[in-house]
Amino acid sequence: MQIEGLDEKLLPRHVGIIMDGNGRWARKQGKKRVLGHQEGSRVLKKIVKSVFSLKIPFLSLYVFSVDNWKREMEETSFLMKLIGKFYQEEFSDFKKHGIRVIHSGIYDNLPKKVIQILKNIEEETVHNTAGTLNLCLNYGGRLEIVEGIKKLFQDIKTGKVKEEEIDSKFFSNYLFHPEVPDVDLMIRTSGELRLSDFLLWKNAYSEFWFTDTLWPDFNEEELFKALKDYQNRQRRFGDAK
Ligand code: FPP
Repeated sequence: MQIEGLDEKLLPRHVGIIMDGNGRWARKQGKKRVLGHQEGSRVLKKIVKSVFSLKIPFLSLYVFSVDNWKREMEETSFLMKLIGKFYQEEFSDFKKHGIRVIHSGIYDNLPKKVIQILKNIEEETVHNTAGTLNLCLNYGGRLEIVEGIKKLFQDIKTGKVKEEEIDSKFFSNYLFHPEVPDVDLMIRTSGELRLSDFLLWKNAYSEFWFTDTLWPDFNEEELFKALKDYQNRQRRFGDAK
C-alpha cells in the first residue's frame, strides 16, 4: 500500500497502541461502557489490517492489563467474550495473510475458553512471517520484568547463567517474546499522556504520539498522521549527533 507523504523506507518496525477512550466514547453517546469496547473492537480490526498492509512487521496492542480486573465484572466478562469473538472472526484472515499472532501476558484469571483460543491461535500461526500481532492481554510491564527476574534467578541457581553474562541485551531474553523488537512508535488515544505499565522495557527509546481522539473514532487517516510525524523525528538513542 502506497500513501502520499509516507516514505516506505522510514516506517517503524514495531508500533504499539494504547487503545484508550472506549468508555468515554460510549458515555458521550449515552450508551453503556461495554458498547464502547464493541465499537473499539471494530476499529481495531481495521487498524490491524492497515498496519500490516503497510508491511510494518510488528504491532502490539494493549488489550487488557492485569490492573483492568479492578473494573466491574460486567465489563471484564464482556471484554473477555469480545476477545474470544475477535479471535474467532479474524482467525482465517490472519492465516490467509500470513500474520502470526502471539500473546504477551499471563494466563492467571483468564477464562479457560480464552486460554484455549489463545493457545490455539498461537500454535496455528506460529510459522507465519508476514507480520506479528502481539496481543497484550492480562499484561503488565512491571509483572513482565518481575517474571523475567524469577526465570533468570532459576538459571543462576542451577548454574546455567553466570553474573558476568548479564547485561540488558541478555536480560531481554527473559521477557515475554524476546523476538519482538523494541517499540519504535507508541500511539495513545483519548488525550491521556501516560504509559500505564505498557511494555516498559521495550519502550525505552520509543517515539510517542498522542491524540485526543477516542479509540472508537480512531481511523486510518490518523494512523498515517502518526506515521508521518514519526518519520520526522530525530532518533538519537543517547547519542549527541
Ligand atoms: C481502554 O478504554 C480500553 C480497554 C481497557 C480495552 C481495549 C479493548 C478494545 C479496544 C476492544 C477489545 C479488544 C479485542 C482484542 C477484541 P477505557 O475503557 O479505559 O476508556 P475510558 O478511559 O474512556 O473509560
